[in-house]
Amino acid sequence: MVNGQVVSGDFSKIIMRVKGSEQVELGELVVINDYQEKFILQVYDLVYGSQISQQNLEMVAGMNLEEGNFSIMDEQLRNYQLAFLKPILNIAEKSKTCKKLPSFFSKVRRITKEDLFFITKPTNPFFLGRLRSGSKELDFDIFLPGKDTLSHHVLIPASTGKGKSNLMSCILWDLIDKDYAGLLVLDPHDEYYGRTGLGLKDHPKKDNVSYYTPVSPPPGARSLKININKLKPEHFQGATSLSDPQRQCLYVYYKKFKSNWIVSLLKEERIENVRFHEDTISVVKRKLISLLNLDFENGQLYCQGIFDTIAGENTIAEICQDLEQSKIVIIDTSYFSGAVEILVGSLITSEVFDKYKYYKKNGQLNYKPVISIVLEEAPRVLGKKVLEQGSNIFDTLAREGRKFKVGLIAITQLPSEIPKNILANMNTKIILGIEMNSERQAVIESSPQDLSQDNRNIASLDKGEALVTSTFTKFAVPVKIPLFKEFVKKDEKKIIEHDYMGFS
Ligand SMILES: Nc1ncnc2c1ncn2[C@@H]1O[C@H](COP(=O)(O)OP(=O)(O)OP(=O)(O)O)[C@@H](O)[C@H]1O
Ligand SMILES: [Mg+2]
Repeated sequence: MVNGQVVSGDFSKIIMRVKGSEQVELGELVVINDYQEKFILQVYDLVYGSQISQQNLEMVAGMNLEEGNFSIMDEQLRNYQLAFLKPILNIAEKSKTCKKLPSFFSKVRRITKEDLFFITKPTNPFFLGRLRSGSKELDFDIFLPGKDTLSHHVLIPASTGKGKSNLMSCILWDLIDKDYAGLLVLDPHDEYYGRTGLGLKDHPKKDNVSYYTPVSPPPGARSLKININKLKPEHFQGATSLSDPQRQCLYVYYKKFKSNWIVSLLKEERIENVRFHEDTISVVKRKLISLLNLDFENGQLYCQGIFDTIAGENTIAEICQDLEQSKIVIIDTSYFSGAVEILVGSLITSEVFDKYKYYKKNGQLNYKPVISIVLEEAPRVLGKKVLEQGSNIFDTLAREGRKFKVGLIAITQLPSEIPKNILANMNTKIILGIEMNSERQAVIESSPQDLSQDNRNIASLDKGEALVTSTFTKFAVPVKIPLFKEFVKKDEKKIIEHDYMGFS
């Protein structure tokens, strides 16, 4: 099974000659057994090598092309491929990071399942997929420790169509019956519940999924209505741009009228000793009316969207309760503008975070599940430009959420738009294929493991192929994410039994 031999290099670049009959791929994992020690290495580049001078090679090619068949003696011996390897782990004793070079001329072989005995299944497992070596999938499941992974934030960067949503569907499906985590999913494409196709609603334990939608909720779903008195000025941070005087106007009304502040502001109720510029008030009113989809005529308020003056008193409390019972709550935001989605997201997230801060204070936090907030197109709230206008609940979470067991799963095509300090705080990155070099660099520079040689490897990731870099793994693990359609089949038997029980 030997497929190569070490011929030169240095610590960051071990060069192996590839056996003529073997094929080696970028990203492939290989092993060197060296007396008592065992090294795992990964292929990060491939080049040609030859014993014959370039000039002679060119002449042979010329004779071949111009005059027909002409071959070199001992071709396999004289021409070959060289693979560049980076050492990722020394697994002799307690799988340490490599600090030694394997012996010169060591034999190199492919990795097998048995080499991975040191990777054990953590408590509260968070399933990712199978270990991948190049494009080959090994029969070996990769898990992360779920509680830590989710509270220390997850970033999923990838170009469009590389499998972000598919990955998220698999993660959610797997977490439905796990009681260590509750997830809040803001779903701008309404793709996770499976209103029209396969989705979380088809899980045997679908009772652990709550689905809120503003439009014709299917059986079992809830209609999304939120009472306007639950809104606070800080929820508008990130959802809409406000000048300083406009922001002050919101806070002054909130301070004076508390939960009634929006209606009071729309009615322009007077506040003693405070006068706002006419323009300020009218701009603020216009923004509130359009954002909240209200109609305000002759002192009367009419609600047309999800924000209501009568209904929706308990919605936020119910959502928080579901999350604390480690359920998955999906909010269908596909009918909203981006601004309204962020407003709703901020509102729920702030409430969850405040509750968990309170639990930490009174010692209850240990008994609560981790809560993770899933954000699509994360730079909308975590982007540099947005944060220049002031902090919002999501970047507060990114910075200090882990202390309170509240984390983010940020999905994005443009990680470079997120400030470096926030990227660095995302302790697990599930990197799928990224086409743009600048985006790859942003991820590489903020990764827990050294990925400086993995640029090419990341560029060549196919749909569903991931590289997982995390403070909770010993090395950056190549993973094949399952296709959701296939992944749910493992529970299919249970689905049939479940339906059968439903009928009886
Ligand atoms: N793990 C996988 N294995 C095989 N094929 C996959 C996998 N993940 C995704 N695909 C294929 O790629 C297609 C696009 O995947 P997906 O919608 O998840 O990408 P995305 O990154 O969310 O794209 P977008 O940026 O448009 O939201 C899927 O329809 C599926 O056919
Ligand atoms: Mg998607």
